[in-house]
Amino acid sequence: MANVRLFSGAKMPLEMHKVRIVQKLNLRPVEYRHEAMTAAGNNTFLLQNDDVFLDMLTDSGVNAMSDRQQAAMLTADDSYAGSATYTRLESRLHEIFGMDYFLPTHQGRAAENILAQVLVTPGSVVPMNYHFTTTKAHIVLNGGSVEELICDAGLEITSDEPFKGNMDIDKLVACIESNGPDKIAFVRMETGTNLIGGQPHSLENLAAMREVCDKYGLLLVMDASLLADNLYFIKTREAACKDMSIREISRRIADLCDIMYFSARKLGCARGGGICVRTDELYRLMRGLVPLYEGFLTYGGMSVREIEAITVGLDETMDEDMISQGPQFIEHMVDQLVARGVPVVTPAGGLGCHIDAMRFLDHVPQTEYPAGALGTAMYIAGGVRGMERGTLSEQRDPDGNETLANMELLRLAMPRRVFTLSQVDYAIDRIDWLYQNRDLVGGLVFTEEPEILRFFYGRLAPVGDWQDKLVAKFRADFGDSL
Ligand code: F0G
Repeated sequence: MANVRLFSGAKMPLEMHKVRIVQKLNLRPVEYRHEAMTAAGNNTFLLQNDDVFLDMLTDSGVNAMSDRQQAAMLTADDSYAGSATYTRLESRLHEIFGMDYFLPTHQGRAAENILAQVLVTPGSVVPMNYHFTTTKAHIVLNGGSVEELICDAGLEITSDEPFKGNMDIDKLVACIESNGPDKIAFVRMETGTNLIGGQPHSLENLAAMREVCDKYGLLLVMDASLLADNLYFIKTREAACKDMSIREISRRIADLCDIMYFSARKLGCARGGGICVRTDELYRLMRGLVPLYEGFLTYGGMSVREIEAITVGLDETMDEDMISQGPQFIEHMVDQLVARGVPVVTPAGGLGCHIDAMRFLDHVPQTEYPAGALGTAMYIAGGVRGMERGTLSEQRDPDGNETLANMELLRLAMPRRVFTLSQVDYAIDRIDWLYQNRDLVGGLVFTEEPEILRFFYGRLAPVGDWQDKLVAKFRADFGDSL
């Protein structure tokens, strides 16, 4: 993206690509959307994509591919073992991150499974800036626990702090001292911290974590799934890095880590994942699990076509024009919503625009899942599908009590290069309308609640008939418009 200045003096995000393949979308009438949401058990994961106008559920596996990625897919070398396609990916990762070993996996959580099985022992602790749902589930499944040591600003919804994803270094030292270094499985940094609104950390903060890890002899593991956004923010917000290239910043980050794992559904704009490992010793510890869970060491559960696309996607991630597209669209959306008084996470981060459902729906108690409720209302109001990132995405404690999330966010993800600015402006308009009618929106209650990762396929119902009233108000305000 080029953030160009207009004649009026205002700035405008300008796409540095053109669209050459399109997919038709459906915008169903509001009554249909209400019915579809009911059929989906008021869980946006259970909607049919055919019924969704703007799919802002996630940026995972749905970023637009480039012509170069598509072309590379045709050159894939389909062999079970020793595929040239795999060698190309391995070389690209080595070229960018400089780590000698790579373990391919079919997606990010598969990498987490392997890491947790090998490094997490019962009673061990994993300090991290913030958890991600699947990461925490794997650590807990292996008998470990998670300690979140995000800096204070990280949990403030509105802030001027440019690096809300930073780890609080004093808290990290205290955590290691109080548990004892022997109990620490590894220290985890999640770049582009997902659940607090795609918020970045600084290079300086990562370097400080490295110092602490060196002092106590601990492994520093990075979840690099959202690295692309974080690279952009380091380049644009960290004064010491402004003259560094994206490649230089990438290498500096990698040099501070022992392990970098990632979901290539995000990093690399295709579908897959893997673990970059610095030492032979660590590589050998994990290697055996790849053929067991994923597939042979030269594909790891990924199709060779996807591997080719990741290899090119990683190269394109080193281009500032490419990685700025998501953050600049998100900034546009955040700025427009702030101007309309809608509570959102600031500063704008990566991944998507995050609406603060706790304030948006301050009359809905957390036990009635305000972010989940707002997600259903958003779909009914505009055919826009978001994802709940709040209490619904947490797991109950062993006694069955709700674990109330620190934040109740409705995430409207911005898959890279997928939407136009007019589609984003349409979403902004419908959110604005919903905010003006927020009193109509009520809570949700589970009708079917799975024990693990309940947000994926749990089913819920509205508390009362608020959705009917919302549909009626939509018709009153918009007439026969979609
Ligand atoms: N780590 C982070 C930070 C993630 O955001 C994700 C996925 C994963 C690990 C797991 O990767 O999906 O390839 O298995 N995040 C997706 C999302 C699901 O919508 O935010 P995966």
